[in-house]
Amino acid sequence: MNEIQKRVAELTKILNDANYNYYVLDNPTISDQEYDKYLRELINIEKEHPEYADPNSPTNRVGGEVIDKFNKIVHERPMLSLANVFNEEEIKDFANKIKKEGFAPEYVCEYKIDGLSVALIYENGSLVRGVTRGDGVTGEDITHNVKTIKSIPLTLKEKIDIEVRGEIFMNKSTLEKLNKERAAQGLPLLQNVRNAAAGSIRQLDSKVTAKRELDNFIYYLPNPEDFNITTHMEALEFMKNLGFKVNPANRLVKDVNGILKFIAEITEKRAKLPYEIDGVVIKVNDIAMQEKLGYTAKYPKWATAYKFPATEVLTKLTDIIFTVGRTGRVTPNAVLEPAIVMGSTIRRATLHNEDYVLSKGLKIGDIVSIRKAGDVIPEVVDAKIERRTGAEKPFVMIKECPMCHTKLVKLDNQADYYCLNPECPKRNIESIIHYVSRDAMNIEGLGNEIVEELYNLGFVKNITDLYSLKDKKKAIMEFDGYGEKSLNKIIDNIENSKNNSLERLLYGLGIKEIGTKTAKLLASHFGSMASLMAASQEDLESIRDIGSITAQSIVAYFAHNQNLIEQLKEIGINMTYKGKIAGTNELVTAKKFVITGTISGFSRKEIKEKLESFSAKVSDSVSKNTDIVIVGANPGSKYQDALNLGITIWDEEKTLEVLNNLQ
Ligand code: IVH
Repeated sequence: MNEIQKRVAELTKILNDANYNYYVLDNPTISDQEYDKYLRELINIEKEHPEYADPNSPTNRVGGEVIDKFNKIVHERPMLSLANVFNEEEIKDFANKIKKEGFAPEYVCEYKIDGLSVALIYENGSLVRGVTRGDGVTGEDITHNVKTIKSIPLTLKEKIDIEVRGEIFMNKSTLEKLNKERAAQGLPLLQNVRNAAAGSIRQLDSKVTAKRELDNFIYYLPNPEDFNITTHMEALEFMKNLGFKVNPANRLVKDVNGILKFIAEITEKRAKLPYEIDGVVIKVNDIAMQEKLGYTAKYPKWATAYKFPATEVLTKLTDIIFTVGRTGRVTPNAVLEPAIVMGSTIRRATLHNEDYVLSKGLKIGDIVSIRKAGDVIPEVVDAKIERRTGAEKPFVMIKECPMCHTKLVKLDNQADYYCLNPECPKRNIESIIHYVSRDAMNIEGLGNEIVEELYNLGFVKNITDLYSLKDKKKAIMEFDGYGEKSLNKIIDNIENSKNNSLERLLYGLGIKEIGTKTAKLLASHFGSMASLMAASQEDLESIRDIGSITAQSIVAYFAHNQNLIEQLKEIGINMTYKGKIAGTNELVTAKKFVITGTISGFSRKEIKEKLESFSAKVSDSVSKNTDIVIVGANPGSKYQDALNLGITIWDEEKTLEVLNNLQ
């Protein structure tokens, strides 16, 4: 080693130690000025002697590497998610299930950090790759950005090969600071810490990420057996000793009471934490026990996430309005004074039906508490009766359709009211909107408002009218907002949609009980509209996954709509299935499969699709109903399950032989 190399090594050590002490241990050992001085010295040496610049030099912390796209990386072991529990009862259920398997584990309780998960791969103690979770199987390479996160070590205290996993997040104060800057620059504000962290890590230019001051906690070691580690607590300690930032709040508890105590404590302290958490993760401590408990396709069975109840916000219920759907169902909707709940603005919330509103005792003008159910759909929780002024107005369910004034009816004593007028303009508009929607005929350019306007102007009264829109171009252009160019585009899209495969049309017709999946099944089974229309109730029921209600609905629909189908056919709309027709194979058709391990030459998705195209069912877990378990290389616990239950097993050779014969 020459003098320059020695100095590089010295500076690297000083800077790495300083980073570690400051960002991981929260215990600064040198001043910012000193740090900057050493950093500048190292930057200068690297500039003059690029041959001595290590790819993991601490100078990377400021960013600089720019990539042109995110490369996809297949995780060596899938990155699983966690099942959720929402209350004490469900926590007890989780523990009871484990007890039933014959275990009485200790648990580790951890904060559920609100960020995004990352896999970090080190070779010979050096960070070589950082990968997002992606879909769990394949993630994106974010190495250049991960290197800018100062609490992630670039080199470990031991020169080992290891993968660890954890959460990248943004501290609350960082988001606040960032949003102040963005507001000053007139940029849109980042809605919450999770979006901010995810957006910051998905940057091509690592300089941008570096400025976002992201942080991390490491909470999972996928290969503990490689290091003779037998408990999760040991794994956490081991990772901490390597230089990773491990949350000091993690706690080993003896039983469910310990879990509940941990949750009660953190519920109190949560608001004061510098980072956002959305729950508590509960993990079985003993790793041998974890392995025995095993995994579903998505979750480990040895861990779960307790989610805090969604945060609620108070606002005013200014009105209750009614909407009519395609089927005629009338739904009351809350009109709310706009309020921000967990980062997004809520103005409306469905109130489902009359019974729902009455059970909540809502009055118009009430102060109500709202939240996002499952963190997504806005929901009115309850009315704050103590805040009533006397000016509130009672809710009255309408008796007539708000659009066509037909008397509303309840069907089979269900809670919902329906407008059964087939000529109801609102129903017709909604039917057309459904027909052109993305999963149906996918006619771009025809947004909801345009459909409604074209309907009200008399240009499109039903779906067949769409196809004569081209003859009404001039007349439409007389109205405001319709340029020739945009109209031509819409007309082109309508014309092109005539070539869609049958399942899109089937779904678009809005036949009761026919969602996208059933539409695909019917299209691939019958191949054409004519043979579907010729099918009897019995024929339909003999198809896997078609029950008698669906079969009845299909038969009834075609009995009443032959004219419409005839017209669509004359217009030139394709009535055949353009995908592959489902084949049959006695070894595969109607059999229930489970796949574990890898089969050379086929991805799991390809095997699944191939089997399904021969009407087999592929599920995620082995049960006594499973017919065949495909066992490839490196199988998981499903192999053992298959052996235990005595289920037929196909090895790679057998599987390949069958798959190659399926055509
Ligand atoms: S453990 C196999 N521990 O929560 C174990 N996950 O809802 C995998 N998360 O995808 C995860 N804090 O992104 C674990 N202390 C923690 C966590 C945590 C946050 C995230 C993680 C995971 C998601 C599941």
